[in-house]
Amino acid sequence: MTKHFLNLSDAGGDAIAAMIADAIDRKAARAGKPKGAADADTPLAGHTLAMIFEKNSTRTRVSFDMAIRQLGGTSLILDGATSQLGRGESIADTARVLSRMVDAIMIRTDDHAKVEEMAHYATVPVINGLTDLSHPCQIVADLLTVVEHGLALPGSQWAWLGDGNNVLHSIVEAAGLMRFDVRMGIPHGYDPDPGFADAARAAGSTITLTRDAAEAVAGADVVVTDTWISMGQAHADEKLAAMMPFQVTSDLMRQAKPGARFLHCLPAHRGEEVVDAVIDGPQSLIWDEAENRIHGQKSVLLWALGRLG
Ligand code: CP
Ligand code: NVA
Repeated sequence: MTKHFLNLSDAGGDAIAAMIADAIDRKAARAGKPKGAADADTPLAGHTLAMIFEKNSTRTRVSFDMAIRQLGGTSLILDGATSQLGRGESIADTARVLSRMVDAIMIRTDDHAKVEEMAHYATVPVINGLTDLSHPCQIVADLLTVVEHGLALPGSQWAWLGDGNNVLHSIVEAAGLMRFDVRMGIPHGYDPDPGFADAARAAGSTITLTRDAAEAVAGADVVVTDTWISMGQAHADEKLAAMMPFQVTSDLMRQAKPGARFLHCLPAHRGEEVVDAVIDGPQSLIWDEAENRIHGQKSVLLWALGRLG
């Protein structure tokens, strides 16, 4: 059966643990090589990844390109505007055609239903490179980053500050799969989709929502935030004002566990969701987190193409 990666639960906790372990091994094995050089075993030699972007990207685009190169394969990019998708060719027909031409498809788009439709019609793996609902590839990199920095995931305490968005949905989904807890500090009116929290709670994780930023971060091992205005959302002064008490400041970080790690998927809006002293400070793992998009995506590709777990 074709292995799609639309959400983390498509892989499940055991496969995600295998992805993290494999990413750590592969990263160590290629230390010192030029970034575009292939891994010694080139497990995806001859494979091509098509990437479809209907939204902007820096990290996802570059890291998937480098990931498939390092695995011995190649990539190509279709952007929404210049492909026939932009002139109304259906997702279904695009999926059928690309399935005859490439070995895997990564798509970044607005509506999650488009990714589901792509997966329904594709006969090669479809990978979600971000939708309005979720961002599973980002969270594979986030989990890899904190594990690399010595955190045992089961039982760990994560704090989310800010908007109830796609990145939070995937963190909460990961909590259920990897058995950690999330305290969400979110102002009224910007709550996440409750489905992810319900599933994580059913799996035994503690997922709580508070309107108080200090309560959210108290004793946390990991503090995470993201932009207050995601791609496709209108800029709204009212929203920025509501979010301001949830800005990640040095004072807030002091209320987390000593040595707590700070994560941000980037791009950051310095002075909005986080201040420079935190994002550039000693607890911030953001550059490792960004680099780990490559290593995490290699594991996702290997899993989707049946070479892992
Ligand atoms: N974090 C992330 O997905 O970054 P890009 O939008 O640059 O791909
Ligand atoms: N929540 C952000 C993540 C960007 C990587 C967005 O959807 O724009």
